[in-house]
Amino acid sequence: MKLKNKVAIVTGSGQGIGKETALALAREGAKVVVSDVTDKIHEVVKEIEALGSEALAVKANVSSSKDTEEIAKKTLKKFKRIDILVNNAGIFPFKPFVEMKEEDWDNVLSINLKGTFLCTKAVLPTMIKQKYGKIINISSIAGTVVGFPKLVHYCASKAGIAGFTRGAALDLAEYGINVNAIAPGAIETPGAVAAMGGKKAFQQFAQTIPLKRLGQPIDIANLVVFLASDDSSNITGQCIVSDGGLTDQ
Ligand SMILES: NC(=O)c1ccc[n+]([C@@H]2O[C@H](COP(=O)([O-])OP(=O)(O)OC[C@H]3O[C@@H](n4cnc5c(N)ncnc54)[C@H](O)[C@@H]3O)[C@@H](O)[C@H]2O)c1
Repeated sequence: MKLKNKVAIVTGSGQGIGKETALALAREGAKVVVSDVTDKIHEVVKEIEALGSEALAVKANVSSSKDTEEIAKKTLKKFKRIDILVNNAGIFPFKPFVEMKEEDWDNVLSINLKGTFLCTKAVLPTMIKQKYGKIINISSIAGTVVGFPKLVHYCASKAGIAGFTRGAALDLAEYGINVNAIAPGAIETPGAVAAMGGKKAFQQFAQTIPLKRLGQPIDIANLVVFLASDDSSNITGQCIVSDGGLTDQ
């Protein structure tokens, strides 16, 4: 087990990439805080406990500093340390740029980008005290490698996460904290299937991917485990693409 007794927080872990990541971290021995705005967190906690690991459900909205401080507080109360933070919570509401309103922009930026900032700030005092921490931010190929139609706000937020990752990696290196990002391509999650017009349409889209397969949540979860483990101790400030070759064409 690569993460025995490490304590991890995963935001947006009620479903999709976040849920699979929470389970993968637990399989490697981590104690996991499952956080999301939905009640699905309780089911995920049960699944982790069934694996023989410990877990805690914390219902929280990452765009609220009150909530993100609460996640850190409850984690410390139960598990006494915070080793790993996975900033995964995110939304991708498609809308043509010409119809996009200020509130659409604010909503996406406050969850995807400000949420990453707030969760990181909330765990920092603990990670600095420990002189140890692994922060993994879920960005996207959209905004960092390519554009994506009807997602101007999303592309801006995900490019922002990649920039945040580079900057934070430099500021936090002296405290023994690694900060990295992952840029997934098309991953088959409940959110993405709905956004891409259903399973059939998403499978058709998969034919445009060189590896001819949609990415699965476990593909990203395995990469998170690597970045959360000491196998990646010399990596910081990077944004690693996992997209089946989609943006290599
Ligand atoms: N699926 C893809 O193809 C893909 C590609 C690139 C990047 N991503 C990124 O991966 C991450 C996870 O996406 P997914 O595909 O699993 O999506 P999903 O919609 O299936 O799951 C996202 C989870 O985040 C939660 N969430 C939303 N707003 C929140 C908030 N304010 N506070 C806390 N939790 C909140 C949702 O309730 C949901 O459980 C997102 O950041 C997304 O942008 C996904």
